[in-house]
Amino acid sequence: MPIQIVRADITKMKVDAIVNAANETLLGGGGVDGAIHNAAGPRLLEECRKLGGCRTGEAKITKGYKLPCRYVIHTVGPVWQGGGHGERELLESCYKSSLMLAVKYRCKTVAFPLISSGVYGYPKDRALRVAIDTISAFLLDIDEMTVYVVIFDKASYTIGEKLFSDIKSYIDDRYADEHYDASSVRMRQYEVMRDGRFNVENINAKRDKKADTQSFADPMPTMAAQSVPLAKPLSLDEAVKQLDESFSEMLLRKIDERGMTDAQCYKKANIDRKLFSKIRSDKHYRPSKTTAIAFAIALELPLDETRDMLMKAGYALSHSSKFDIIIEYFIERGNYNIFEINEALFAFDQSLLGA
Ligand code: APR
Repeated sequence: MPIQIVRADITKMKVDAIVNAANETLLGGGGVDGAIHNAAGPRLLEECRKLGGCRTGEAKITKGYKLPCRYVIHTVGPVWQGGGHGERELLESCYKSSLMLAVKYRCKTVAFPLISSGVYGYPKDRALRVAIDTISAFLLDIDEMTVYVVIFDKASYTIGEKLFSDIKSYIDDRYADEHYDASSVRMRQYEVMRDGRFNVENINAKRDKKADTQSFADPMPTMAAQSVPLAKPLSLDEAVKQLDESFSEMLLRKIDERGMTDAQCYKKANIDRKLFSKIRSDKHYRPSKTTAIAFAIALELPLDETRDMLMKAGYALSHSSKFDIIIEYFIERGNYNIFEINEALFAFDQSLLGA
């Protein structure tokens, strides 16, 4: 995954380069600047003294010294003055000039803090948006680089109260149902096993009877009754006949149907080229669930086609998974921005798409 949002202490990251949110003197300070200098040791400051400072929006590189990274790229973010003084452009320039130095020094892995979002007062969510947008645009032309956007403390990270509460109520409505369903399904399976009557017709009949008699006052059991899609078992040759296109074939067909190039698709899915070529070259390749979903998002598939594509990789969207419910939330609203989805997944402590 070319861009990852991680919660970490940047001074502990074993990457080729970490980026420091410095000030124009490059002689250290508080925040992440102070943490990096403390962890790197005094020789970092000695080298910084020779650099003659750095202008806002520009970047300079030093060794990492006692840090677990090879290099430290020092950049100076803008001080937030309300947004009308070119702050966004200067912040973008911090990311671009740091990434250009990373390319020049052949760094394959780079970690950024949220530049300017601390002492310099840039609003956190805007700072994150600028970071993600600028880095993803830069990586469109670069293949072999992974960039980590490091969130040091959860508090410095919000997806906006309205969106958060909207997703939370969406999860609460569904997550509870599924758990109810799951427990009632387990109970039903226990009854069946106990009575030794593992007979599909019986279970279907019992379920239908229960659904008919269920009062509407409490739809939960009705939903539970309908939540067990017990299809009649297929005969072997029927099952073989139903073997339709594989995940990989459906993915490639959808890319063609949308007139996308392979690169446009896997970049939009935030999946690296190597993994994509594995999927392309092996018709029966089984991707991870998050990878399969990332491609469904990149192709902007509606929910039914997303489910179909997942099924071909052996997965299903389940209401017993907050991750899946959040994916469903965004697809139902036609929002396929993988970074906004990842920001929401991150806010709900879920693993990220493509990670
Ligand atoms: N690892 C990762 N991120 C960190 C760490 C850490 N160890 N420590 C702080 N951060 C995060 C903060 O939570 C914030 O989101 O780095 C982001 C940037 O905050 P600051 O370090 O305050 O940097 P900035 O807002 O750009 O202000 C720069 O502060 O420290 C001084 O010398 C620096 O004058 C300069 C100014």
